[in-house]
Amino acid sequence: MRSIAVINQKGGVGKTTTAVNLSAALANSGKRVCVLDLDPQAHASLHLGVTATGAVPTVYDVLCGNATIAQARVEVAENLAVVPSNIDLAAAEMELAGEVGRELILRDALAADHEPYDYLVLDCPPSLGVLTINALVAVEEVFLPLQPHFLALHGLSKLLRTVEVVSRRLNNRLRLSGVMLCMYDSTTRLSAEVSSDVAAFFESASATREVHGGATFFNTRIRRNIRLAEAPSFGQSIFEYAPESNGAADYLALASEVIAQRAEAGPVATASAA
Ligand SMILES: Nc1ncnc2c1ncn2[C@@H]1O[C@H](COP(=O)(O)OP(=O)(O)O)[C@@H](O)[C@H]1O
Ligand SMILES: [Mg+2]
Repeated sequence: MRSIAVINQKGGVGKTTTAVNLSAALANSGKRVCVLDLDPQAHASLHLGVTATGAVPTVYDVLCGNATIAQARVEVAENLAVVPSNIDLAAAEMELAGEVGRELILRDALAADHEPYDYLVLDCPPSLGVLTINALVAVEEVFLPLQPHFLALHGLSKLLRTVEVVSRRLNNRLRLSGVMLCMYDSTTRLSAEVSSDVAAFFESASATREVHGGATFFNTRIRRNIRLAEAPSFGQSIFEYAPESNGAADYLALASEVIAQRAEAGPVATASAA
């Protein structure tokens, strides 16, 4: 199983859109995928048509030890499941503050789950707090969506340092393995400029062989597409909502690159779940 956390401490860069639609594309390609929603805003859950209200167990209950991953998981389509969140998760940060080993809770909960997924995709909140750290401890890969904005690389060093520290202290399998540009506007010079800045940044990072060296800068640019912004309010992935859109084409292309990534890298040891 590949386990991937989609992170960026900035909001509105395309994390959730990417987590959901990449997962849906992978599921359409026959991969078994589980999305885990780690954002109290629950956008990924809602995007996949799941509103977790009342007594339904969520990620929050998993982190509190009141539910297992299997109990919280909901099947949403063929090959596609989600472990939903809701606003309760906002309390987790404070409630876990005094817990010993709070960074390891999600990792342990996932290790106790035996469902044979090909991909586990974690949608993270826009912060580097305890929820994101739990994600980084639980996965092997980080995907970083960037918006082609003149500040795209701003704040990246803090994020990469966090990945590095987690990798050194808590999870030595962790690697930044993918960077993608979202909301790309091919008609602006800015998009092209940011694109080459990002490429240069990760090439030089690669040379230093740090934890983020070797990350794939995906060729697929996720173009700005209104269908991608509309789909969440219908509780549908782009493939259900607008299969003929540029958004669907782009996420399908990204999924092929993601699948090819591992094919190139050769087989990698599976996570502890088995
Ligand atoms: N390629 C795109 N084209 C148009 N709108 C997009 C695109 N990607 C994301 N959006 C919209 O931009 C907003 C922020 O995206 P989102 O994925 O929620 O970011 P994040 O999870 O990083 O906060 C959402 O309203 C989303 O629907
Ligand atoms: Mg989000």
